[in-house]
Amino acid sequence: MWPLANYHSFKISRSASELYEVRTIDDARKVSDFDNFLILGDGTNTIFIDDYDGAIVKSCISGVDCQAQDEGWYIRVGAQENWHRFVTWTLNENIRGLENLVLIPGSVGAAPVQNIGAYGVEVSQYIKTVEAVHLATGQQHTLTNHQCDFSYRDSIFKRQPGAWLITHVNFFIPKSWQPNLSYPALAELNTETSVTAQSIADKVIAIRSSKLPDPARLPNAGSFFKNPLVSVEHYQQLIGSFPDLIAFKQNTGYKLAAGWLIEHLGLKGACCGDCCVHDKQALVLVNQGHATGGDVLALCRLIQQRVEHAFGVMLEPEVRMVGHGGLIHDVSHYPG
Ligand code: EPU
Repeated sequence: MWPLANYHSFKISRSASELYEVRTIDDARKVSDFDNFLILGDGTNTIFIDDYDGAIVKSCISGVDCQAQDEGWYIRVGAQENWHRFVTWTLNENIRGLENLVLIPGSVGAAPVQNIGAYGVEVSQYIKTVEAVHLATGQQHTLTNHQCDFSYRDSIFKRQPGAWLITHVNFFIPKSWQPNLSYPALAELNTETSVTAQSIADKVIAIRSSKLPDPARLPNAGSFFKNPLVSVEHYQQLIGSFPDLIAFKQNTGYKLAAGWLIEHLGLKGACCGDCCVHDKQALVLVNQGHATGGDVLALCRLIQQRVEHAFGVMLEPEVRMVGHGGLIHDVSHYPG
């Protein structure tokens, strides 16, 4: 058995059958020999609810290769590299574009899977291609941005779990830089005459540090739920009853701030056992020390039921939860 407490940032003491590290393409081709396996990056978006009856597969391919061209930078990065360190490196090289995504925990290889995003930017805006091994056939592919089929916290890799093992991510960052200050919390930088990529990064770090718990000090897996999308009609009904509701207009409706919904129900600080709603950001659940998988499931269900009852919206987990057999697709039917 392989202990997992140090392999996921929520730090529940669970284990897997074994750990398999991929260092070469040949290693990747052998992954499909396992009956049951789960690909893991730094484990900052995954919670092990139960002991996992299978192998944990980690991509251990590192390296950053940067080619400067007239129009911008082409950067090929190994899946194992740490996301925040990579962003910091780009800023030190005066490569501007990724600054809004600073301090997001996790690995570079995991970034395209859930199309990480923050403060008005999604990583898919800067991904040119993703190199991955198709595990069923053992073939190496370079998927174009279009083929990755990115959307809000979603991609082909997320929709086909276990189908692809990402080895490298290829970024293109154009030299023509425009600061992205569209997110309300960054708007105050607009008034500054000399906004720089570094000043945006500093601001994002300050906001994140004030609201989001540091997983090294208070175990958590970032946003626990996605912000739900509702129709225009549903939004209009809600805003009639809840004039303070925070929502963002999308092409096909409104994205509701799930943190606001949870806070509005008085659930900040609510706990099931040692799993609690964070008191500064209601979208984040934290492990106060000895949370069990059962505590996480109980709090998840409690929040889902209360939100559905009050607002008619079913919150969908954003984190990946793992049970005995693999990913838990339906929390309501998982025992425990
Ligand atoms: N809000 C509340 N109460 C709360 C939390 C939020 O009223 O407890 C309100 C805020 O005041 C704000 C709005 O909801 O007006 C949005 O909150 P915030 O800016 O904190 O962002 P979020 O929608 O809760 C999303 C991402 C975060 C990302 C931030 C910033 C998702 C699921 N989460 O959170 O990503 O850092 O925006 O862009 O989309 C993550 O994915 O793990 C993550 C942390």
